[in-house]
Order: sequence, then C-alpha cells, then structure tokens
Amino acid sequence: MNIRSLFGGLKEKVVGQHVKIVFPEGNDERVVRAAARLKFEGLAEPIILGQADEIRGLLTKLGFADQDYMIINPETYPDFEKMKAEFVEIRKGKASMEDADKLLRDVNYFGVMLVKMGLAEGMVSGACHSTADTVRPALQIIKTKPGISRTSGVFLMNRENTNERYVFADCAINIDPSAQELAEIAINTAETAAIFDIEPKIAMLSFSTKGSGKAPQVEKVAEATKIAKELNPDLALDGELQFDAAFVPETAAIKAPDSKVAGQANTFIFPDLQSGNIGYKIAQRLGMFDAIGPILQGLNKPVNDLSRGSSAEDIYKLGIITAAQALGTLD
Ligand SMILES: CC(C)(COP(=O)(O)OP(=O)(O)OC[C@H]1O[C@@H](n2cnc3c(N)ncnc32)[C@H](O)[C@@H]1OP(=O)(O)O)[C@@H](O)C(=O)NCCC(=O)NCCS
Repeated sequence: MNIRSLFGGLKEKVVGQHVKIVFPEGNDERVVRAAARLKFEGLAEPIILGQADEIRGLLTKLGFADQDYMIINPETYPDFEKMKAEFVEIRKGKASMEDADKLLRDVNYFGVMLVKMGLAEGMVSGACHSTADTVRPALQIIKTKPGISRTSGVFLMNRENTNERYVFADCAINIDPSAQELAEIAINTAETAAIFDIEPKIAMLSFSTKGSGKAPQVEKVAEATKIAKELNPDLALDGELQFDAAFVPETAAIKAPDSKVAGQANTFIFPDLQSGNIGYKIAQRLGMFDAIGPILQGLNKPVNDLSRGSSAEDIYKLGIITAAQALGTLD
C-alpha cells in the first residue's frame, strides 16, 4: 500500500463526517490553506483562530473565500469568562482566574479548551509554535486516557518508491522515559501501527544487542522489553537490539539468531528522545522517507503537533489523521 492508498483509506473514513478540528495558527498562510482544503474536500470542519479580517484576506488570496468558515478570535470570544472558570476548575488549585486570563490568550490553550468543552473534536497546531508550547496545554487539560501514564509521539515513515512503511517512537515528547514508560510507549505504538495496516514487529532499540554492551542505558531497554512482554505477551516484540540487528536479516542471524523480531522489525522504539528525534530525521533526510507526524498517542482527544518546517500539504495530512483519530478509528 502506498501513501496515496494510505490517505485514500483515511479520507474515506472522515469524508462527510464534519469532524471539527481547531487550527489555532490562523495567521499562518500554510495553516489557512490546509484548513480551507480540508473543508473544500469535506474532510473536516475547521475552526480557525485569529483575526477574522486577516484570515478572510488570506482565504481570498488563496481562492477559498466562498466557503463558510468558523473563525473565532480569542480576544473577542463571548464565552471567555465561562472558559476561564472551566479552566480553573480543570486545573484544580494549579491556576487562578488571573492565570486563566493570561494563559487563555495563548491560542494553544484557547484551542485545547474548545476541544475540552466539546466545541471541537481535535486540534492541529505547531506550524509556528514549539512542540512544548503546543503539547503542554493538551497534557494539562485533555490528559491521557485511563491506564496510559504518558502521551508519546509517533512518526509514520513512508517511502513510496520502495513501498516501505515503518513506525518510529517516541520521537517527540518523552525526553528520558523510564523502563516502565518505554514499555507503555511500545504497547501504544503497536496499536497505532495497526491503524496504518502495519502488523507490528517491535524492536526495542539500543547500542547493544542482547547484552553485547553493558551500561545503565542498556539495562533500561532490557528492562522495558521485559515489562512490555509481561504487559502484552502476544506482541511480537524483542530487545534490546541495535538497529542493524533489528532490521538486517543477515546481521540478525549473527547477533540475535533466536529472535522472532530481529531482522524483520517494522516498529522501532527508541530509548530516549535524543535518539528518536535524530533517528527519524536521518531516515527522512538521508533515506528519503516521508515523515508523517508526530502523531500523538494516548490522549483523551487528539491534539497533534506540527513541525515548524511543515508545508501546507503536511498540515492537510495531519488534519486528516487527526479527524480519523477523533472518530475513534485510531484507537
Ligand atoms: C512535552 C513537554 C513539553 C512537557 O513538559 P512540561 O510542560 O515541562 O511538563 P511538566 O513536567 O511541567 O508537566 C506539565 C503537565 O503535563 C503532564 N505531562 C508532562 N509530560 C507528559 C507526558 N509525556 N504524558 C502525559 N502527561 C504529561 C504533567 O503531568 C503535568 O500535568 P499537571 O500540570 O496536570 O500536573 C516536555 O516533555 C518536552 O518539552 N518534551 C520535549 C518536546 C520536544 O522538544 N520535542 C522535540 C521536537 S518534536
């Protein structure tokens, strides 16, 4: 299945469902173009935040002015006081009304509150905000699903001309996850992989294969592997494995001959954020893979973070994924 058929399948799920997705960065032309295209194709109902005049100007320039958009300016939002009160209630002792007044002027906090209050079903942001600024409001307000302690960020790595597709995690959120958290990330990622028609074979990556190296960092991955196997014995998961042992059958035959995953892994769990973030960017830039994501997993409602280098096409695609997550198809 290539990228076209992947998105073809997702589009079929979301078309005509009118899933309301908040796009907080209405001052950014790439965002407005993507939101307008989603609406034009009936794939989502965008809620664009910002100054109405400015956004309508962009829509006219882009040739999308004749559709009826929901545009909300947080500065003049009539229910701002109600939103502030709800925010203070949700943050239970961690934020005063003064804090709420300040924080909710930030479009990411405002957008996440629209999702929390049920006025939207998901959010896509980060075209001009850092990951931390985009994700923190979602962690504080939307929170993780029951039984999931950490949200994490997956990249779907797709290379059309070789028809290859892999999942990398966590490449976006947890800077130095514990063994327990790493195990949970692996299990969550297996579920996400399945959505993209990947039957997950999960490698818990390290610089060591099956005890070849000794270090606390290696022990963490070995421990995470053990915990993940206990939590879900049915998973095809193994570790700790170096990337070559995980991916190259000939190397696996030498380094991990008894492993059912080594040499054929398609889902890669990195030991920390440095390796995960560097790893996906190397595959993207040197390996010519399309990097789709980060797709956040584990939240009660989908909030997805864009890279600041995203194109309008990337934003459009993440909008489709977010709409599909909101419909529960990614659960
Ligand atoms: C995601 C991130 C912003 C959270 O950092 P933070 O806001 O400083 O986190 P805090 O520890 O202050 O926690 C804020 C809230 O989020 C929650 N939280 C933090 N990390 C979480 C996670 N991974 N999953 C779920 N909840 C989390 C905390 O429990 C806390 O909730 P509370 O306020 O209700 O108690 C931080 O982990 C980060 O910066 N990660 C790296 C992001 C990045 O730069 N990625 C690379 C580019 S893609």
